Amino acid sequence: MEPRPAPYPATLRASGTTGAPYAALLSVEDLPPGTMRRVSHGDLDLLLAHTALGIVATDDRCPHMSAPLSIGELDGCIVACPLHEGRFDLASGDTVQMPTTGGLDPDGVYHPTWSPVGRDPKVDPPGRKAEARRLTRVRRLRYYPLRIVAGMIEVALPADLG
Ligand code: FES
Repeated sequence: MEPRPAPYPATLRASGTTGAPYAALLSVEDLPPGTMRRVSHGDLDLLLAHTALGIVATDDRCPHMSAPLSIGELDGCIVACPLHEGRFDLASGDTVQMPTTGGLDPDGVYHPTWSPVGRDPKVDPPGRKAEARRLTRVRRLRYYPLRIVAGMIEVALPADLG
């Protein structure tokens, strides 16, 4: 199947990208199905992911604590962060598994710390670090519009970066 842009929720379009110029960032050949790449432009680190629904561009920053998702794992449309076991749906922008640290989900609902099966439960002694984890809100992903032109993935970048 020809590589194509994946649909994404219009409400999650990255700010500054409406009417923004497109920049050619990567050849589609360099992003086979099931792979992810970080592409940096200025100080913006983008994640290009070839998901089961097509190619998406989002920030290469975990919506939890900003780890690079590009070195995580992609399964269908779900990206697993290399830190804290968080999992995020690149099709919807939603969190599908909260990080082990717990904290607030995108709707502001608190989730406790947890441990993967077979690992000892995390002890979270009271204090400022625990408070910081409790108050850290996992955001929804933000998407950069993209198109494929002459075999290149072009991404709409905020005007001051284009
Ligand atoms: S930084 Fe990604 S789950 Fe915590």
